Amino acid sequence: MTVAATVGYRTIRDLNQSELAGKRVLLRLDLNTPLNEAGGISDDSRIQQGIPTLRYLVDRGAKVVIMAHMGRPSGKVVESLRLTPVQDRLSELLALNVKKANDCIGEQVRAMVAELADGEVLLLENVRFHKGDTKNDPDFARELARNGDLFVQDAFGAAHRAHASTVGVATYLPAYAGLLMEKELAALGAVVDAPEAPVVAIIGGAKVSTKIAVLSNLLGKVDALLIGGGMVFTFLKAEGLEVGNSLVEVDKIDVARSFLDEAKNSKTKVMFPKDLVVADAFDNDAKTQIVGIDAIPVGTMGLDIGPKSAHEFANVIKGARTVVWNGPMGVFELPTFAKGTNAIAEAMAACDGNTIVGGGDSVAAVNQAGLADQMRHVSTGGGASLEFLEGKELPGIAILRT
Ligand code: 3PG
Repeated sequence: MTVAATVGYRTIRDLNQSELAGKRVLLRLDLNTPLNEAGGISDDSRIQQGIPTLRYLVDRGAKVVIMAHMGRPSGKVVESLRLTPVQDRLSELLALNVKKANDCIGEQVRAMVAELADGEVLLLENVRFHKGDTKNDPDFARELARNGDLFVQDAFGAAHRAHASTVGVATYLPAYAGLLMEKELAALGAVVDAPEAPVVAIIGGAKVSTKIAVLSNLLGKVDALLIGGGMVFTFLKAEGLEVGNSLVEVDKIDVARSFLDEAKNSKTKVMFPKDLVVADAFDNDAKTQIVGIDAIPVGTMGLDIGPKSAHEFANVIKGARTVVWNGPMGVFELPTFAKGTNAIAEAMAACDGNTIVGGGDSVAAVNQAGLADQMRHVSTGGGASLEFLEGKELPGIAILRT
């Protein structure tokens, strides 16, 4: 990590031991992890990524009080979204008995906080069980803040949300970045501020609506922009091509057309797939064929980029010095349509430039391919990493400015 990348932000490394020892540190983590059908954790990456900051604080004798969310319970208690499985995993990873409260505010919670010994950790219940969190309600934020002497923001994945637990508490407590936040800022900040050329961005995913802002922002900034995934069909439709039963956002065809016009005058080389894998059904066992983008048969839908395109994209990636990837090339959850996405993951692994992956699906794809440790940085942010790449200052990061 380059310290320079986080200059301008307060971080826990600015605090000396006496500023942490015995202090109640209210730590926001993004522990929003996928759960399996039995309610257990199916991917603990975000929990693991929270450990360095927890260790740092525990080792310095802080009393750590964790705030986190799980899912979108909309201000109600949802039993399946309690943080108990997270408590167990945290305890295992820290080799400590992490305590847990049944709420995140109130007298009982404050009593549990008051009983913490130096170096102990208490996990508060899902902050989104209260409506006040997502509304960034000042009263709720003040109640949360009563559990700490200082606030450490390490939830990069939730930093695009201006919620009470990510932003509001900073009104009442001095706020510092945690170590994961610093790592994310350094890795993604380097790509936004001073990337080494050639710079390649690969943007995939199903919808133009969620990716158009980042696509427009990257035009003129990157050398090559490779576009794949379900959103391709809205662009093809905008070019007047037939797309069969493929996914199209009809209300985004105009936006797609404007982007294509803008792209023509840009110094960025914008590349779409030239061939596709189409199928007669959204099914792993469906009948498939490989076709050119201008020859999608009636009654079929495109579910992956084709082998020629995968090869072409891979060659561009391998020659890059900076590569950032967000969004799969196809329906990678089904093995029949995972080849294009896997080809991107493999090309990134083979690239010796600065390789950065963000977004839940692309991170899952890289994990599924067993290639995560061959990337320079795998972001814990889904929407957050995308908004960061759009050039926005995330509200949960703005509060850390000196
Ligand atoms: C995420 O999973 O991207 C973050 O935890 C934010 O969750 P949200 O989209 O429900 O706010």
